[in-house]
Amino acid sequence: MDRASHWERVYSEKAPRDTSWFEDDPTESLDLLLLTGLESGTSVIDIGAGRSPLPRSLVDRGLHDVTALDVSREALDQLDSAEGRVTRVVADITSWLPERHYDRWHDRAVLHFLSAEDAQLYRRTMLDALTPHGAVVIGVFSDSGPESCSGLPVTRYREEDLLEWLGPEFLVLDTRHHTHHTPWGAAQDFVWVAASRDPQKMSLT
Ligand SMILES: C[S@@+](CC[C@H](N)C(=O)[O-])C[C@H]1O[C@@H](n2cnc3c(N)ncnc32)[C@H](O)[C@@H]1O
Repeated sequence: MDRASHWERVYSEKAPRDTSWFEDDPTESLDLLLLTGLESGTSVIDIGAGRSPLPRSLVDRGLHDVTALDVSREALDQLDSAEGRVTRVVADITSWLPERHYDRWHDRAVLHFLSAEDAQLYRRTMLDALTPHGAVVIGVFSDSGPESCSGLPVTRYREEDLLEWLGPEFLVLDTRHHTHHTPWGAAQDFVWVAASRDPQKMSLT
């Protein structure tokens, strides 16, 4: 089954609380996005948003340029889009060609599904899509996290792996480890990074 079909099936068949990544309150994401500085005009894209509450939370905080991208149309149909105030993009991040720039790039639990090769394609797209003074917030399974999710294998990242993948074009603002608890009480260890683009390194991108 290809990637899109897998996720279409997941979102068609499973209620939100039947998925391990469900959270009521996107605390880590919001904390780290706020650390990068958010104003009403800050544009944010949530990569692999699924039906996360994050886009809606950002709109509720007064941001008026929020985009949710996911490979699953079904997920985005179920997303709380705050009465159409969240722009929805159905695309696979490894082949997506962004048509504009974003000030903030957010990813919770998506990068870790990608092979090393696809993670490099993703990184290239992230650099292309991000404004020169943009920032990223990314959370992936850490080296003590699960070895699979939603029936798919994942790549677990040590903090140094995540920073190495991010590369020299970024200045790290914060890293943190956080244990997410699934709706049925299982612990999942994540490592997070918030980093701003280093304008001095634009020539390398
Ligand atoms: C574990 S879920 C996390 C969802 C959301 N970020 C959250 O925190 O609730 C992973 C999400 O990534 C999406 N996804 C997986 N691979 C993708 C890809 N290559 N491009 C875009 N979205 C992808 C899935 O459809 C799914 O919604």
